[in-house]
Amino acid sequence: MVSESRAVASAESVTEAFRREFGVEPQVLARAPGRVNLIGEHTDYNDGFVFPVAIDRDVWVAARATGDTRARLFASNFRRRTEFPLDDVRHHPSERWSHYERGVVVMLQREGHAVGGFLAAIDGDVPSGAGLSSSAAVEVATGTALKALFGLELEPVRLAQLCQRAENEFVGVNSGIMDQFISALGRRETALMVDCRSLEYRHVPLAGDVQIVVADTSVKRGLVDSEYNTRRAECEEAVRLLGQRLPGVRALRDVTLTQFEQCAGDLPDVVRRRARHVISENERVLASVQALEAGDLATFGRLMDESHASLRDDYQVTVRQLDVMVEAARTVPGVLGSRMTGAGFGGCTVSLVETAAVDEFRRVVPDRYRRETGIDPKVYVCRAVDGASATTL
Ligand code: GLA
Repeated sequence: MVSESRAVASAESVTEAFRREFGVEPQVLARAPGRVNLIGEHTDYNDGFVFPVAIDRDVWVAARATGDTRARLFASNFRRRTEFPLDDVRHHPSERWSHYERGVVVMLQREGHAVGGFLAAIDGDVPSGAGLSSSAAVEVATGTALKALFGLELEPVRLAQLCQRAENEFVGVNSGIMDQFISALGRRETALMVDCRSLEYRHVPLAGDVQIVVADTSVKRGLVDSEYNTRRAECEEAVRLLGQRLPGVRALRDVTLTQFEQCAGDLPDVVRRRARHVISENERVLASVQALEAGDLATFGRLMDESHASLRDDYQVTVRQLDVMVEAARTVPGVLGSRMTGAGFGGCTVSLVETAAVDEFRRVVPDRYRRETGIDPKVYVCRAVDGASATTL
């Protein structure tokens, strides 16, 4: 049977956790969603295009100002607590879970925002380690709560940038802007096309009788950090080499497929493949936005399939389980496209599935995946929801 185990976090659950932990009422409730990327993978750190949706799984933060100069955090999911002085926020090796919140505080302070003492309880139902951006959701929910609690002047795009910096400079993971951006700026029933160079963005309605189905391979993304950094370095090398032939190239975003094909012969094999993925993926994102706007879901699905092939063969960030899941999905009539989503090396696939075919997907795909891998997968049918929000109580 399909396993869709779901521990639901909510305004009520986080409020209750806050009350039990601190014995007072919260003043602010904030939430920020996880995400699934429909197409545009490993393009964000190449100044390219991405097309994610915010999904109906959130991190919740309940918070209250104390008037002192300390932060006290309670993580309800793993029953951990920590506390730190706001004038000296440091890493805490045995409380690494709190580095996301600490990092956000530090980046707000660096921008000159006055963060006073506070209590915060955190709860969430974004699966962690599955590539659905639970860490970005923690960062954006924390930033959103502090913004509401202390009345900070902070636009959503700036908040996303600060949260990315928290991840890069404090947590120490060199990710791009996509995850924080969609968590802050998603909008219900739309996907968000982002130009990761200019940070211009556009909400595109998810029209048609289709569902976004996420299938979790249950393979934790083991190699992801080191391989992610290797891919980034290979892309930089590609820019350096292509720049020798094509003046003005600052990022792979600046190279068209036609230009690339003229120069590709000069590149070492691995660098050529990495560049070909990024350059072709950028073109696929633009084409998929057009397809969605034209109501051409068949083309959208085909582009998703092509994206997966490129990530498997050129960018080499899939693992067998991701390939098996995608192939299982494609055996179901009514699956328009299927691909890995996120950084790769485990985590989830995303499929575009006609509503009438969702039950069949749930019946067939997990079974086949289990037979071929011996692993129990999870299937989530996702709704596209609004980005982060806060309520003052
Ligand atoms: C991770 C990173 C993102 C992006 C994706 C790959 O999710 O956090 O910034 O690079 O991988 O598209």
